[in-house]
Formats: sequence, structure tokens, C-alpha cells
Amino acid sequence: MNFIKLCRFFGIDGDVGEIKKLNNGHINATYKLTVEENGGEQLYIVQRINKYVFKDPKVLMKNVTSVTEFIKEKYLSMSVDPDRKVLEFLKSENGESCYYDDDNYYRCYKFVDRSVTYELPDSNELLENLGYAIGNFHYMLSDFNTKQLNETIPDFHNTEKRLSDLYAAVEKDPFGRAQKAMDDVLKFRKNESEILKLSSLDLPSRVVHNDPKCNNVLFDEQSNEILALIDLDTVMPGLAAHDFGDAVRSACNSCKEDEKDYSLVSLDLDKFKAFTKGYIKKAGNFLSEKEKNSLALGVYTLACELSARFLTDYILGDVYFTKDYGMHNLVRARSQLAFAEDVYKKLPEMNRIVSEICM
Ligand SMILES: Nc1ncnc2c1ncn2[C@@H]1O[C@H](COP(=O)(O)OP(=O)(O)O)[C@@H](O)[C@H]1O
Ligand SMILES: [Mg+2]
Repeated sequence: MNFIKLCRFFGIDGDVGEIKKLNNGHINATYKLTVEENGGEQLYIVQRINKYVFKDPKVLMKNVTSVTEFIKEKYLSMSVDPDRKVLEFLKSENGESCYYDDDNYYRCYKFVDRSVTYELPDSNELLENLGYAIGNFHYMLSDFNTKQLNETIPDFHNTEKRLSDLYAAVEKDPFGRAQKAMDDVLKFRKNESEILKLSSLDLPSRVVHNDPKCNNVLFDEQSNEILALIDLDTVMPGLAAHDFGDAVRSACNSCKEDEKDYSLVSLDLDKFKAFTKGYIKKAGNFLSEKEKNSLALGVYTLACELSARFLTDYILGDVYFTKDYGMHNLVRARSQLAFAEDVYKKLPEMNRIVSEICM
């Protein structure tokens, strides 16, 4: 990749200095670029968009730039300096936000100074800040017209389709693995109406991040105050409960996602409370009662959905999720299902916590 050509394409005239590959992302290849410009050093991020996951990078970038520009304008209208609070993508002279080098698409945006990411929030303070980051993202985009967004990955949270994909995998059973997963598949069949309940609630369409993990939030390295949400590739129309559920699923589990001792897996209610407190601070301003009442259910739904995806992938021969050992995806599926079962038992308590915080 010719970084100098890329810089010129995006109107960066300075001398390109250090190019450092950042290794903590899983989907795209990320580089930090130092450029000597106007007598000082400017830092940029250059990202190669994963062409196997994202088939149409231009459409994807349209979503990403329209959302980030909207947030920037909104901060300005609130007389808040948007610097470090939202990603700022560079455009070419012709207004293009993707650079194509005959093989891959690249994008370029400003590096957010003095920021850190954390793999998992290890304190209630961080959990509350993570909740705030996601609630604030929803709040800033609450009056964005979701019809302007393209569905870059169709059926991303189509729970019914996730289940039918699982049943289809069982029918196909290309590696003779279905028998081993049968008890788990039966649990999905048995609980189908509960798993599909969120989709039947007729909730409003919102702008959803769709990958609201802790390592997709930039925090200030000194104060841990939240800065910008990153990794915006999956920003699409969806439900507030999708992001809420997925974030709680990944950040409030008492164990790691692939814990093999399923009896240890549970939702940590203290963590849930801290996250919800942060989330509601901003999201409480615009969510309807019905949406607030759907948040806890979202945690159950999203855990079931991910479990179904792991199970499907196990049966189909581990084609989507990379694994560390033979039965990794089956273990992940069971671990998520154990988490979902614990969440289901705790739903009344979780709903009580949400209502108490919303008061
Ligand atoms: N604008 C930015 N400023 C500072 N660091 C960033 C910025 N964008 C990305 N990073 C760093 O790069 C990592 C990977 O970026 P991300 O967009 O999450 O890629 P992936 O899709 O591969 O997960 C992040 O975890 C973060 O550490
Ligand atoms: Mg990421």
C-alpha cells in the first residue's frame, strides 16, 4: 500500500513519517500514521476495510460519514466542541471517503489523541462510562432519519432468521455434528416464542451501533471520560435494545465468553446496574416507556441470538468464527446459552433496576 498516494488523495500534503500497525482490531487492518504538517505532527488512522466481510465499502462509508457528520453538527449546535467526541473522516477533492488501490478500499480519519481502549471494563466506573457512551450515541442520533441508512449487513439482528439458519444447518449437517448439538438445538425450539418476543414488540427504528463492545469506545487516558465511539461499520437501523442487550451481554458476564464450566456463567447484577445507570443518563431522555421496558429482554434475545450463531457455525464446520480448538464454537454456544438462561431468570430483577434508574 502506498501511504503517500493515499495521503495526497485525502488532501494531506505533509511528509509521511512513522506508520505503525495497530494490532488490537479483529476485522480491519488499522495503521497509525504520523505526518509532518504545518510545522507540527498530525496523527491519522488509516484502515483497510475487510473486503470479505463488507461487500460494498462505498455504501458502508456513506452510512458512517452521514452519522458522524450528523453527530458533529449536533455538538456544534449545542455549543460543545466536537473534537475527540466523534470520528472525523477525511474526504478527497471529489468528496470521496474511500481510497481504492486496485485491490482494497481504505479510509482515513483523525487519530483521537490521548485516548485508550479497554478489552473489558474492569470497574463499575468504566461500566457506567461504557453505558453512557452507548446511551449518548443513541441520544445524539435520536432524531436522525434511519431511512437514510443502508442495511450493510442484511438481517443482522433478524432473530427469526438466525433460528431458521440454525435449523437449516441441522438439516444439512455436512460434518455429522448435529447429533452432538441436538440438546442445545431443542432448547431453541422449546423457547422460540420467548426468543422472538423482542422482534414482535413493534418498537421504533433507531440508529444502532451493532458492535457496542468496550474496545470500540475511546476513553480519555487520564480521566476515563468517554470520547468517541469507533468501529462504525455496522451502524444500521435497529432497536435500542439491540445495542443495550449486546453491550450488557459482552460486558456484564461474570465469566469470559467461552467459559467451559457453564455452571459459573451468570449475569453480574452489580455490573448491570452500573452499565444501566450510565446508559439511561442520556437515553432516558428520549426512549419511550415501551423501549425502556424492552431493554432487559434485549439482553436475553441477544445472548440467544449469538448462541444460535455459534451453534450454527459449529454444525457447518466453523466457517465464520475463528476457533482456538476443535469444539470452541460449541463451547461458546453453550456458554452463551447458559448466560441467556441466567438472564431469563433475572429478568424481573433487571426490569426493576431499569425502572428504578429511570425514575
Ligand atoms: N480514531 C482513533 N483514534 C485512536 N485510536 C483508534 C482510532 N480508531 C481506531 N483506533 C484504535 O484501533 C483499534 C482498532 O480499531 P477498530 O475500528 O475497532 O477496528 P476493528 O474493526 O478491526 O475492530 C481500536 O481498538 C483502537 O485502539
Ligand atoms: Mg473494533
